[in-house]
Amino acid sequence: MKIALIGFGTVGQGFIDILQEKSDILRTIYGFEPTIVAVATRSRGSLMHPNGLDKTALLTAIEQGHLNNYPDTDGLQRDLPVLDLIDQCGADVMLEASWTNLDTAQPATDHCLRAFQNGQHVVLVNKGPVALHYDLLQAAAQQTNRQLRYEGTVMAGTPSLTLARESLAGCTITSARGILNGTTNYMLTQMEQGVSYEAVLADAQAKGYAEADPTADVGGWDAAAKALILARGLFGANLTLEDLDVTGITDITLDDIEAARQAGERYKLIAEVTAEGGSVRPVRLPLADPLAGVSGSSNAITYETDLLGGVTLSGPGAGKHETGFAMLADLLAIMRYKPL
Ligand code: HSE
Repeated sequence: MKIALIGFGTVGQGFIDILQEKSDILRTIYGFEPTIVAVATRSRGSLMHPNGLDKTALLTAIEQGHLNNYPDTDGLQRDLPVLDLIDQCGADVMLEASWTNLDTAQPATDHCLRAFQNGQHVVLVNKGPVALHYDLLQAAAQQTNRQLRYEGTVMAGTPSLTLARESLAGCTITSARGILNGTTNYMLTQMEQGVSYEAVLADAQAKGYAEADPTADVGGWDAAAKALILARGLFGANLTLEDLDVTGITDITLDDIEAARQAGERYKLIAEVTAEGGSVRPVRLPLADPLAGVSGSSNAITYETDLLGGVTLSGPGAGKHETGFAMLADLLAIMRYKPL
């Protein structure tokens, strides 16, 4: 499988780390031997080689600050504009992990459309394109008979979408309720230990949990984008941000958290969504609520179903390897997929 990696920040590097660490198992057990034919960044250069780029050299070059540090080899092309690179790289799959504005979902949406035009499957960890332009992307995928996969957009590599789509196939899911943002859950957990809002936000950014613009996390918009993706993926509902009541954690103080603790409760940023709409808001949960026990950057989701009642999944919701794994899971799914 030939792969183009658009965006080579924390998540893209995590994905390449995983390919390196698990290359033997991936080859022998799954028959998966990917070649990285192109890598593009916003401000640190791009590389393309039809025979594949060396993964260790890629990681070293980017750790040194720029893809220009990648050694010269015959056939290597540097610094192509990203759309030209997508046209010319000959990839089977494009992985979209670029820096993208959540308000406009650009430039990631244009990258995806271009990849479909070139007959490539698309794997997204960027939320914006799925939350805002799902119909456009799905139509482009169908026209070219290619797949659009986006497991990493909700709960990182924890398989929230695959659970709903595959394991719960045949059940009717009536609602989803959960903790969908790792940054704010980490912040609220640390604030219970008395760490200030500003210090813990800086810590969450350093750990790679937060969005490039962390106001999307603390304002509740990242969780809201995930709620829209769930509404689309679970209910086929074409909701927009106007259908959700969104309040973030920016007004939650250490005093609020202490008051909740004294009452035997805990603040969590809870997202709820049905086919009709939903909300994202800080809620004081009693400690007995399963979501109250989800700490740090973990996420959790409860699907209400007709046949099983509530089904809850918890696991990592953000992070370098946790999200890098989502890309691997989607690639393996593309490899396995055989239309009926
Ligand atoms: N900023 C996001 C979060 C990253 O904290 O959950 C994963 O989508």
